[in-house]
Amino acid sequence: MQLSLINQWLLKPWAKPLLWALCAVPALALLAGALTDQLGANPAEKLIKETGEWALRWLWLTLAISPLRDVASLPALLRYRRTLGVTAFVYAALHFMAYAGLDKGLVIDDIVKDILKRNFILVGVVALVLMTPLALTSFNAAVRALGGKRWQALHKLTYAIALLGLLHFYWKKSAKNDLGEVMVYAVILAVLLGWRVMRKGGVLGMLRVR
Ligand code: HEM
Repeated sequence: MQLSLINQWLLKPWAKPLLWALCAVPALALLAGALTDQLGANPAEKLIKETGEWALRWLWLTLAISPLRDVASLPALLRYRRTLGVTAFVYAALHFMAYAGLDKGLVIDDIVKDILKRNFILVGVVALVLMTPLALTSFNAAVRALGGKRWQALHKLTYAIALLGLLHFYWKKSAKNDLGEVMVYAVILAVLLGWRVMRKGGVLGMLRVR
């Protein structure tokens, strides 16, 4: 199929609503599973794990947009980066709500103690806190109010968030000596960030706002 045809499809007015609908599918599937009692022996754990993994997947997809756009010559892909980034935030927020509500029974004291006691939880919290201003400034009016350069500078935080998300995942899995999946995520992230470093002539170039 011709790339220009894919590009035209990506520009169609229905393409973005379709992506939003696709982004909602894992959350709706989890909701349906919870309502029909299909989430296995420990539904709370399943919900926390699945929403966490989906947050990471959407984040990785967000980071994949720029390399894919350049490698596949699909400039229209850029329209979808914010949608995917906001989706990553929504899943991370659902993940936190599942943890706070189902694991900790919304007892603030227990949540704070857990954050201070377990490093891997603290790292997750920092990642979610950093994601919040990005999600809040992901709308056109916020981009205009901030100005392009400041918006770009703020959104460089995505790299730190991805590294913290990976560390959170690694810490969780290393306790069980189960690092296979973490390695897959680490390799993909290395490729996605490595591509940026090479293209921008080094780490400083990647972090510079033009
Ligand atoms: C307030 C912030 C966060 C809290 C309190 C939190 C808490 C947790 C907890 C308790 C688990 C263990 C689940 C279990 O073993 O049953 C977990 C796992 C996980 N979290 Fe988070 N998390 C936070 C933020 C994030 C963020 C921002 C991401 C991704 C961007 C993320 C991705 C993951 C992943 C991938 C797992 C592993 C799932 C698995 O075992 O397959 N978390 N988190």
